[in-house]
Amino acid sequence: MKDKIRFSSKLGLIAATVGSAVGLGNIWRFPAETQENGGAAFLLVYLVCVCVLGIPVMLAEFTVGRSARADAIHSFQKLTPGKPWWIVGAIGVVASFLILGFYMVVSGWTLEYLVASVDGSLFKAEAPCEAVDFGVKMQEYVQTDVRPILFTLSMLVLNAVVLWRGVTKGIERLSNILMPLLFLLLIVFCCVSLTLPEASEGLKYFFTPDFSKIDGPVIVNALGQAFFSLSLGLGILITYASYYPGTTSLGRTAVTVSMLDLAVAILMGMIIFPVVTTFGIGDGDSLRGGTLVFVTIPEVFTRMQCTRLWSSLFFLLISVAALTSTISLGQVSVAFLQDAFRWSRHKAITCLFLLLLPISVACSLSQGSWNDFKLMGNNIFDFLDNFATNCLLPLGAMLLCIYIGWVLPKSTLIDQLTNRGALRAPWAPAVVLAIKYLAAPLIFVILISNFL
Ligand code: PHE
Repeated sequence: MKDKIRFSSKLGLIAATVGSAVGLGNIWRFPAETQENGGAAFLLVYLVCVCVLGIPVMLAEFTVGRSARADAIHSFQKLTPGKPWWIVGAIGVVASFLILGFYMVVSGWTLEYLVASVDGSLFKAEAPCEAVDFGVKMQEYVQTDVRPILFTLSMLVLNAVVLWRGVTKGIERLSNILMPLLFLLLIVFCCVSLTLPEASEGLKYFFTPDFSKIDGPVIVNALGQAFFSLSLGLGILITYASYYPGTTSLGRTAVTVSMLDLAVAILMGMIIFPVVTTFGIGDGDSLRGGTLVFVTIPEVFTRMQCTRLWSSLFFLLISVAALTSTISLGQVSVAFLQDAFRWSRHKAITCLFLLLLPISVACSLSQGSWNDFKLMGNNIFDFLDNFATNCLLPLGAMLLCIYIGWVLPKSTLIDQLTNRGALRAPWAPAVVLAIKYLAAPLIFVILISNFL
């Protein structure tokens, strides 16, 4: 029975949940945000946001999922029947579906760069003896019509295959292999980066805070980054927690997952900032999103020995991070379709991917010949990104905090945090206070500031 699905081991459960959290947010959003928000000062505020707000909100999602043992929408219906709180879950399901639409395209690009690194075409110049222009390469790989669509489709198929095999045989098994691989690759890159000539300058920038840089926008940006990076507010953790065994310590799991996600962000900073100081990059947009990964980093690889090897390993790292995030996004919709229509997993997956296909293709084309087609001033890709990550995500997270803080009986939360009295959780009241009086109002501020 579907209700009986459980992750089969503690390690698998952690690997899958960390896999969902670790993604492009850690790898390319975090270094750019750090640089734009004052370096080490941002890191410090981010650390506080993860510990004081991220972990409590993660515990809130775990509580809803494990006590109801259903998908994001039905969990709220089960816990508060006859009330409209299921809307919170619905926001999560819609947001995760829309995010999946464009995240799949970005995952496709990373796969494309992985293939081009392995076969060497990424480093072939137009004419012999000319330097490679990675800006032009990016146009070819990202901003044309056919090629990126083919790689997006490959990613769609890869995701469908993993989900098809189910939670334990698909998601858990894959995460058990890919997460250790991801950490191994990060550590290898970190070692390489730390041996660069100007590494200590970069580390100084990343780790020595200038407290005068901390202001309102830095706090709002750090909190937004923490929520995005931990995949909060999208129903993912509700869905995954519904597969946690009753004996899993939610407190320990939330701390482990958050710390590993934080570790990936910090390792990424330790990789990028020595590169920034050594190669004198990092001005203007060179650390922003796609430019960092698709232009700046390949450029750096050309100045190192074994260019193709490093590039292949780097794009493998990113593809792995992207894949484990997209399968968690996909599982939110699959679980919903199964619960809502009593469909088999395979039917739910088929339906999800048929719905996703036109959205991902449109997002991919919006970087090419459909770029002029605008929705509220943005192409389809950017519109979905803004709408889902800047509106739906904080809205869902804020309503979840209100739900946990003021609607759900406190005993349900305490029951889950203590495994019905089997564990001690003297910190539980602090979690409730953090959710009610810190997380809820601060997320409200994020939401408002996104509109200003
Ligand atoms: N947490 C993921 C990251 O850091 C991004 C993500 C957000 C994934 C929302 C799924 C849902 O990249």
